[in-house]
Amino acid sequence: MRLGRLQVRDLRNIREAELDLGPGLNIFVGRNAQGKTSLLEAVGLLARGRSFRTDETRTLIRRGSPCLRARGRTLNGSGQTSLEIEVANDRRRLFVNEREVAPRAYLGRLDVVVYATERLRVVRGSMRERRLFIDRSAGTLFPAYRQLARDYEQVVRQRNAALEAGSSGLEAWDERLVVVGGELRQRRGQYIRRLRTALRDGYRVTGESYDITTRPDAGSAGEAAAQDVLRNELLERARDERRLRRSLVGPHRDPIDLLIDGIDASMSASAGQARSLLLALTLATRDVFRQETGSVPVALLDDLDSELDDERAGALCREIASHGQALVTTAHPAWARYVAEWGCTFHVADGHFAPAS
Ligand SMILES: Nc1ncnc2c1ncn2[C@@H]1O[C@H](COP(=O)(O)OP(=O)(O)OP(=O)(O)O)[C@@H](O)[C@H]1O
Ligand SMILES: [Mg+2]
Repeated sequence: MRLGRLQVRDLRNIREAELDLGPGLNIFVGRNAQGKTSLLEAVGLLARGRSFRTDETRTLIRRGSPCLRARGRTLNGSGQTSLEIEVANDRRRLFVNEREVAPRAYLGRLDVVVYATERLRVVRGSMRERRLFIDRSAGTLFPAYRQLARDYEQVVRQRNAALEAGSSGLEAWDERLVVVGGELRQRRGQYIRRLRTALRDGYRVTGESYDITTRPDAGSAGEAAAQDVLRNELLERARDERRLRRSLVGPHRDPIDLLIDGIDASMSASAGQARSLLLALTLATRDVFRQETGSVPVALLDDLDSELDDERAGALCREIASHGQALVTTAHPAWARYVAEWGCTFHVADGHFAPAS
């Protein structure tokens, strides 16, 4: 899967841009605040209908304009598709081949993986950020997972309401939580196992070893076993739950840990280590996606050079480009020159994108 022509209008400082992306590595080089991350954000928006930088999609609209638009042509084995998203202050519209469609019919036509500073919260932020990352990654890969995660959220909401209201009718929700939660735990466990293998076997930027784990580890146990474990946890915490009037056990509270050489990264990773781990995780996500579907998501890698020396970054770019399409940004011309031979370069200035000749 790849993106060919890309058109962006009124997104942050990009007034109007049109560019033809190369099939492998695309390098965007320019000084600070010129629009490099904004372009990656436009591709992310086109793929997912939301920004990887903010939950407030409206803030992407260029100041002074009523709406933004991003349009791209995706190419895969079976042909071309035109995708378009339009965001105004109070609404979002999605189009496939010029026809307006519902989100359900739109999402999943262009897949991306993202590495950007804003996502460091996956490594260093709260547990919730890691759960969200895992559930979203697995959800783009498996529609059934996405549905399951949604169902589970609803069960927790309704069970919390029952607890809040003094626990009447709670038994029914207990059983729902056990069934849906047990299944989610098992599926999440399975996905984490796949990521783990990809992290171990994938391309290493540093000499460190990375790992991802969750507790309880339900990936290999059957569904019934996962449900039994959850049922017991519910029994154990029943009193606390009634007292605090909140659901305290289940996948919405399960820890997910990222480890560097066996040590929890959220507390102790240096800035460089956190970035390298996030990058490894991004590439592992891409690998799992490829193994599962045979198609490679477009990699959006922002400020890729900031923690890597030229040699490592060069090797990484070669590796990335050999597997699929990637959009990479840098503010350092020397670095861009160093990796230029593995892809095509665009110079970015004031929201304009000029291919290097
Ligand atoms: N809604 C908006 N309307 C107009 N301009 C905006 C809007 N949001 C952000 N900008 C501006 O867009 C410019 C480009 O930002 P962007 O983050 O893409 O820069 P960048 O090239 O990635 O820079 P850096 O190298 O510092 O990461 C910035 O000057 C920013 O202030
Ligand atoms: Mg940037």
